[in-house]
Amino acid sequence: MKPKVYIAAEVPKEVEEYIGKHCEYRKWDSEEIIPYERLRDEIKDSEGLILFLRNVDSKLLEMAPNLKVVSNVSVGYNNFDIAAMRERNIMGTNTPFVLNETVADLVFGLIISAARRIPELDHYVRRGLWTGEGDKQFYGADVHHTTLGIIGMGRIGEEIARRGKLGFNMDVQYYNRNRKIETEKNLGVRFAEMEELLKSSDFVVLMTPLNPHTEKLMGRNEFSLMKKTAFFINASRGGTVDENALIDALKSQSIAGAGLDVYAEEPVAPDNPLLKMNNVVLLPHIGTATYRTSFDMAMLAAHNLVKALYGERPPNLVKELEVCFKGK
Ligand code: DGY
Repeated sequence: MKPKVYIAAEVPKEVEEYIGKHCEYRKWDSEEIIPYERLRDEIKDSEGLILFLRNVDSKLLEMAPNLKVVSNVSVGYNNFDIAAMRERNIMGTNTPFVLNETVADLVFGLIISAARRIPELDHYVRRGLWTGEGDKQFYGADVHHTTLGIIGMGRIGEEIARRGKLGFNMDVQYYNRNRKIETEKNLGVRFAEMEELLKSSDFVVLMTPLNPHTEKLMGRNEFSLMKKTAFFINASRGGTVDENALIDALKSQSIAGAGLDVYAEEPVAPDNPLLKMNNVVLLPHIGTATYRTSFDMAMLAAHNLVKALYGERPPNLVKELEVCFKGK
């Protein structure tokens, strides 16, 4: 008998077919993210679950006594309640590697958009306001030959560093809990303590996963250390930033601007003050959202799921849940 699976994320047809070859499945048939209560109802007899951006906590898990694996279609897995999953021996997997360059590209999109004020000036042209000759009012900041500070030098951080170094002749420094000596040698980047990085970077990019060590890593003190001319970029998770502190820093112009793909609350509430600010570029959490990368992520999630259900170690079992793998 094939294992029973619930597909709670939108996946391409080919991925669904692959899952169908190995598993008996049902799926959520909507572009909307499945409501949490509905998910609880749907997974009662599931052994495997493919998921995007929904919390996996004990309240959900108690509804699914047969569950063996939750396969996230994302690299971030802050939606996993690790303790609750461990207690029930439920494996959790993610989709690293395939998205590194796609996210790094978007980070540079945010850097350039914020520095050169691209969305603001796009609106200016569309509204028919471009009538005069003088262009001083359109001035922005240079990206090339500036200092890029990356907080969190994981795989995506490295791709950002490579782009900064090779594409834009930037001086690249990074802060990470562990120093990355090989990366320093290979890419010509240097380690800096967080305070030093914040004080000296023209662009501060936050790229850490969200976990208890990184929650609100950027707060009032951190923003106050940044240069008045510097830009803050976040494409990790909204929870890594104290959003009120960021809003105050932008309002008081104690930093020059920001580029954000992630927020404390998603979707962003209509009364969020960020929506009214010109010095911030806002995107709807699209770091990985290209056709090719989202296909690759869904296929990787499907492979992780099938391996786990057939008793093999899934290639991307998250490290905190290694203990839940009982196979060889
Ligand atoms: C990821 O893969 O973690 C992206 O941010 C999508 O959630």
